[in-house]
Amino acid sequence: MTTGTTSEQRGLMGWINHRIPVVDMWREHLTGYAAPKNFNFWYFFGSLSMLVLVLQLATGLFLAIHYQPNTHLAFWSVLRGIMRDSHWGWLIRYMHVTGASLFFVLVYLHMYRGIMYGSYKKPRELLWLIGIAIYLVLAGEAFLGYLLPWGQMSFWGSMVVVNFVTAIPVIGNGIAEWLRGSFIVGQPTLNRFFVFHVFLMPFALMALVLVHIIALHQVGSNNPDGVNIRENLNKDGWPKDGIPFHPYYSVKDIFGVSVFMLVFFWFVFYNPSGWGYLVDKLNFAPANGIKTPSDIHPLWFFLPFYAMLRGVPDKLYGVMTFAAAFVMLAAMPLLDRNPIRSIRYRSFLYKVNLLAMPVVFIWLGVIANGQATEHNMVIGMHATLLYYTTFFLLPYFNRQRSAMTTIVWLVVLEALVWGVDFWMYAIDAHSWGLMLQTNWIPTLYIAFILLLALVSPKLTQDGKVPERLTQGGLTH
Ligand code: HEM
Repeated sequence: MTTGTTSEQRGLMGWINHRIPVVDMWREHLTGYAAPKNFNFWYFFGSLSMLVLVLQLATGLFLAIHYQPNTHLAFWSVLRGIMRDSHWGWLIRYMHVTGASLFFVLVYLHMYRGIMYGSYKKPRELLWLIGIAIYLVLAGEAFLGYLLPWGQMSFWGSMVVVNFVTAIPVIGNGIAEWLRGSFIVGQPTLNRFFVFHVFLMPFALMALVLVHIIALHQVGSNNPDGVNIRENLNKDGWPKDGIPFHPYYSVKDIFGVSVFMLVFFWFVFYNPSGWGYLVDKLNFAPANGIKTPSDIHPLWFFLPFYAMLRGVPDKLYGVMTFAAAFVMLAAMPLLDRNPIRSIRYRSFLYKVNLLAMPVVFIWLGVIANGQATEHNMVIGMHATLLYYTTFFLLPYFNRQRSAMTTIVWLVVLEALVWGVDFWMYAIDAHSWGLMLQTNWIPTLYIAFILLLALVSPKLTQDGKVPERLTQGGLTH
């Protein structure tokens, strides 16, 4: 097998390829792209995300044909025009709605795969950062689309989120006004959200995904062992542990697509509102600017970030905490500088910390799903502290630490947690009783990890990385 890219095609394909190198590109990126032979199911989520992107673009096109971006007509153009009066309109809408939520499931799994296998490390830092940009644009796209049905939650959700922007000093009010096109969420807001949702953001997403793939193929795929297959070549220059992406993984991906389609269409046909998580129950009522719902919250995929916004008892600090959550993700290549990529060969306590990340993230979502009580806000604040702690602990595992260093880490991190607590208490005095009910959670977590590291340094010892890939594939 070689990675040659010049085609000697004759006939029509040769003629076309001479002018636009389609055959060469097919070879370079599919049959000639060496993918590690040990991809596991975590590697389904990238191609599935691409599939859902295409589904969203296709279904969105048909929805846009029937949708009316007008505050008097929008709700009924969706609930009646699309859902009842157009042929298959209900199917197209439910596919779009289900696709939006499952897109986030896939992207969250895809990101966590990257975190587990250290796919953000050299030489894939830019690939990772482009991924973060994709996530932000995707989040923007979902937020903008949510206003379009002009239901109660669409309206009030957008109102709340745009209001958060006003917390930014000096320019916040101006940005919020520009976003709304007015002083309140209304017709100009609907118009611009519609245009951004169907026109601007999809193009940005497609462009970013293209750059994402170009960056991936430039440096090559990582894999569950985190071993660079390009360092072990046969005499033809082909990686010994690589197999051509096509047909091996293109065919394997068909299995992933089939399983995904079963889940996807189960929701579409049997549970289109997804227990109120895919479509909020309040959105079956038209927007009413003088009737505020008792509880306003975003769709499930934004809930963890909403808990951060709500948990910090100051609007500006809340917005900063929310923004910094993404900065933490983007900073993964700087925080984790251990040369071992894959979680498989990292220490026991590192594994525990990495497992804590999604657990805290889901927990934050559960908190935000509850009512906006003071109690929930304080728990949200401490869960947010825990979220940050899992990231701050990453550099600790960069190498084996001495007992003294571990103690310093323990004292500094605990002081940080308590310092933030006192600070939050000073900003807005939630009672200390309430604060103490949950601030033991980040306190204990840090103590648990670092005291265990102190008592049993073996728990922070990384394993030995093999020279070649360990599992699966055709040849070894
Ligand atoms: C629309 C959203 C996205 C699409 C369509 C997409 C697509 C893909 C595809 C097709 C691959 C190669 C197959 C695979 O490794 O699974 C890939 C790899 C990768 N993606 Fe994404 N991606 C998206 C979002 C993201 C996000 C949000 C991140 C991280 C913040 C990210 C980070 C990565 C990384 C690090 C790799 C290389 C993984 C490895 O080789 O182990 N991607 N992406």
